[in-house]
Amino acid sequence: MKHQSTYTDILVALDVGTTKMSVLVAQKVAEDSLNIIGIGKAPSYGVSRGMVVDIAQAVHAIKCAVKEAELMAGCKIESATLGISGAHIQSLTSHGMVPIKNGRIRAHDVVAVLAAAKAVVLAEGQQILHVLPQYYTIDSTQRVTDPVGMFGVRLEAQVHIITGSVAAVQNLVRCCTAAGVGVSDIMLQPLASADAVLSRDERELGVAILDIGGGTSDFAIYQQGTIRHTKIFPVAGNHITHDIALCVRTTIKDAERLKMDYGSTLRLPSDMHQLIEVEMVHGEEKTLVNIDEVTRIIEPRVAELFMMVQKEIEKHHLEHLMPAGMVLTGGGSLLRGIKETAMVALRIPARVGIPHVPPMFKEALSHPMNATGYGLLMQALKKSKGSALRDISGPLVNRILYRMKSWAADFF
Ligand SMILES: Nc1ncnc2c1ncn2[C@@H]1O[C@H](COP(=O)(O)OP(=O)(O)OP(=O)(O)O)[C@@H](O)[C@H]1O
Ligand SMILES: [Mg+2]
Repeated sequence: MKHQSTYTDILVALDVGTTKMSVLVAQKVAEDSLNIIGIGKAPSYGVSRGMVVDIAQAVHAIKCAVKEAELMAGCKIESATLGISGAHIQSLTSHGMVPIKNGRIRAHDVVAVLAAAKAVVLAEGQQILHVLPQYYTIDSTQRVTDPVGMFGVRLEAQVHIITGSVAAVQNLVRCCTAAGVGVSDIMLQPLASADAVLSRDERELGVAILDIGGGTSDFAIYQQGTIRHTKIFPVAGNHITHDIALCVRTTIKDAERLKMDYGSTLRLPSDMHQLIEVEMVHGEEKTLVNIDEVTRIIEPRVAELFMMVQKEIEKHHLEHLMPAGMVLTGGGSLLRGIKETAMVALRIPARVGIPHVPPMFKEALSHPMNATGYGLLMQALKKSKGSALRDISGPLVNRILYRMKSWAADFF
């Protein structure tokens, strides 16, 4: 970054979403706090279900958002922390074990046990994106979060591994570099959103987050302060809009307006007789749509999404990991009634999560759509302290982990 202040105190987050490109520029004012100095947003093109499908279009959209943020911040953006999502993301839990030679656990033992846990067979074309330790066990009894300095003869680690398609990451990074933005770090989007909207207590007790975007709904579970599960579902807000456009035979623009202004997951008697005028898909005539009809189109899509979530919870026996319920975020969480539908479908408490931004920026950023972008900024702040992932393990282990997950640098 070229700016009147030093290079090191500027942080940039780039959220390449299916519906919007969002850039946040912040200045670090203290170890734990930042001041947002630039916001850039542009409609997204060339991205489908969280993955780049048209490089030229995506580059143009990123450039628009970057330019707007640069103008506001009064500086040139050179690199950013990037979010990643898409159906190519996979996750698994793995386990590693090493003997301790001198009785006392040192940093290199932790590196060794994580390397052992990370030695898994990956599907072809997949590459490790994050290795997140859940806990360590010393001599099969004591569970600890930072084993360095402790005594024992055998160290074990349980880790959550997130992998992504090499080609999908390369395409995303290529778009950013072609738009003039280097990629300093890559983070899975639901982890970023979780950083922005979950409270420390929720993560400790056990909570699920579902970031319902335009192309994907990103799911993650935290308990005892660490990540327990991640999954990307290929159903989100744009699918609802397309369903409305198809069924009502209206334009995508009017289908989006119907969903946002009148759509709901709950059928209300008052909606039965209310008619809304929309443009027909060919653009030459108008037609009237009953709001209840729109709700009947929305209902099965939302039910399908929560059914997928429920199946994932049952398949991996996750029920007991989320006593604090589910936090819905992302633009899709603004759909009327979705919180209530989630509570009924999943039989757990639910709330809508808004990023905890500094008071000065509440108006501009206090919105579920900004959860990922603001979370990426939080990640950049942690990294600037040299302690990415501090929340889930000790500082030294984090530095090592950070190096492990910086594989994405290979693509630059
Ligand atoms: N008030 C609203 N009611 C219903 N849906 C809404 C509302 N506001 C936004 N949305 C929907 O939210 C979606 C966009 O959310 P978001 O900006 O979080 O997605 P994204 O980050 O671009 O996509 P993704 O994360 O899937 O790549 C769109 O489908 C949009 O229609
Ligand atoms: Mg998103």
